[in-house]
Amino acid sequence: MAILDIKKAGTLVLKEKCEPVTDFGAPALRRLLDDMAETMYKANGIGLAAPQVGKAIQVVVIDVDDDKHGLIELINPKIIRKSGCEVDTEGCLSVPEIFGDVERAAKVTVEYYNRRGKKQKMTGNGLLARCIQHELDHLEGTLFIDKATSLRKEK
Ligand code: NI
Repeated sequence: MAILDIKKAGTLVLKEKCEPVTDFGAPALRRLLDDMAETMYKANGIGLAAPQVGKAIQVVVIDVDDDKHGLIELINPKIIRKSGCEVDTEGCLSVPEIFGDVERAAKVTVEYYNRRGKKQKMTGNGLLARCIQHELDHLEGTLFIDKATSLRKEK
């Protein structure tokens, strides 16, 4: 496994609309998932999307450190249901030291593929729902600072 370079806001790949994964058997996909997880943990993040490591493909890793989920790998994810509405603070590994309040759905159901190409579905609320929406935005070329109100700088 390897620690990948995290691209910062202003890098073109972060504005791209990401392509879906088609080759689930590719060793490069498994390597990317492993490297993204390692990179996320090393940076103390709770989510990382492939464009943040320079790949414009629909791959996301999440670990919000709750008791239930552990490491979540989302490939070609789509939100198929959302409900409620919550405002809370977000940050992003691609936008260091900047935080801001973002309105998100309180509960989302996401359909996705796992690394073996099997279709899955999961529902999350609270921080997990927020993280799913934040990471899926990355796949559309959207950063949380595009949506946030009252941005602030914090060390
Ligand atoms: Ni982010």
